[in-house]
Amino acid sequence: MEAYFLDFANMLLRWLHVIAAVAWIGESIYFVMLDNSLKTPQDESARKKGVFGEMWAVHGGGFYHNQKYATSPGKLPDDLHWSFWKSYTTWLSGFALFTLLYMTSPGVYLINPNSSWEWAANMTGWQANIVALVFLLLGWVVYNELCKRLSPNMERDGILSLAVAVLMVVIAYLSTQIFAGRAAFLLTGAVMATAMSANVFFWIIPGQRRMVKAMEAGEEPNPLDGKRGKQRSVHNTYFTLPVVLLMLSNHYSFMYSHELSWVIMSLFIFAGALIRQFFVVMHSGKIQPAYPVAGVALILLSVWLAAPASSPTSNAVAATEGPTLNEVHAIVTDRCVACHSQAPTQPGFASAPAGVVYDTQEQLLRQIDRTKQVVASKYMPLGNMTNMTDEEREVIAAWSE
Ligand code: HEC
Repeated sequence: MEAYFLDFANMLLRWLHVIAAVAWIGESIYFVMLDNSLKTPQDESARKKGVFGEMWAVHGGGFYHNQKYATSPGKLPDDLHWSFWKSYTTWLSGFALFTLLYMTSPGVYLINPNSSWEWAANMTGWQANIVALVFLLLGWVVYNELCKRLSPNMERDGILSLAVAVLMVVIAYLSTQIFAGRAAFLLTGAVMATAMSANVFFWIIPGQRRMVKAMEAGEEPNPLDGKRGKQRSVHNTYFTLPVVLLMLSNHYSFMYSHELSWVIMSLFIFAGALIRQFFVVMHSGKIQPAYPVAGVALILLSVWLAAPASSPTSNAVAATEGPTLNEVHAIVTDRCVACHSQAPTQPGFASAPAGVVYDTQEQLLRQIDRTKQVVASKYMPLGNMTNMTDEEREVIAAWSE
């Protein structure tokens, strides 16, 4: 019963998280589009009022006319629209989901028993939880320091972008060395997502508050506040597509169970940023296909990298006798049925995960292809909790009807 309620809470939190993220990312993409689409106002009087750019749009049966003031528009209205709760809700629900899913079963989800770093492979559950939290926090701290030190006045944003790109590769590498594959991808995405929300919380919103305060006091707002808000929201723009992919990567074991998963992860991060760049540039009226072409090239490179190797040993096994269905089902019964059964015996499992059941040989036969796939990629058994051996994996790979 308890597992059932946890599952339900998981589903509701995920629903909230996805909705909040869609709302936040949608708004953020809209404002980047708006900013890049601005044209000098046609109307002389608008220019005199301080309007720096405008955009006309048609949507939902009406016409919209947005205007951007670069400096003070004079008096601000009382009902000025702010955007921050969508961002905070996304982060809070994401963090709650991570806590509920990963931190309640660190042995299954966080720890990488095959890590080449001994301390990481031997962490206890609590240690793994703490290391994961420190990882999230440090990711933000290092990113924030890079921004503050490398481009404090927003004059060296190019160098800063390069440094942030290198930082992402380092984070991808460290995460895959320390944590289990799924957690590594998720945590790298979470570091980026935390930086995005923290940018809003610590820099963009406080900067805007100072600007509004200055205007209300009849003073000229500090232009650095505006520039810094822009710098951080530009970073957020390039983080969005990679973050969404990293959050979804959980379903695709070929991405995170590969030996070079950190390279695959880095390729996808850059591919996402490049593809985003195409749209950013497009809204300012230029079509530069080189960006998506480069992005797709990186994705193709990862398709090639992640392709499963054909295993010569299993061919050798097949050439002799080949295992029988009885042998294969015996292994599956040993290593999988604790969870994948009508009545799972593994604590915390109320029903067969993903609806996959291996109680009978017929059930095994019906999903043999998928079974071979998840065993070969080491996605299953989850966290190798049932200590499946490489020899057993080879037997399953070698079985054919
Ligand atoms: C400790 C529990 C546990 C064990 C042991 C386990 N699994 Fe799973 N399995 C899961 C969970 C949980 C999922 C749901 C997917 C997820 O959360 O990644 C799953 C999902 C699956 C899926 C569906 C994956 C998909 O993406 O469609 C297959 C197939 C599968 N397991 C096969 C196996 C095989 C084969 C074994 C034994 C070699 C095994 N599992 C051992 C927990 C387990």
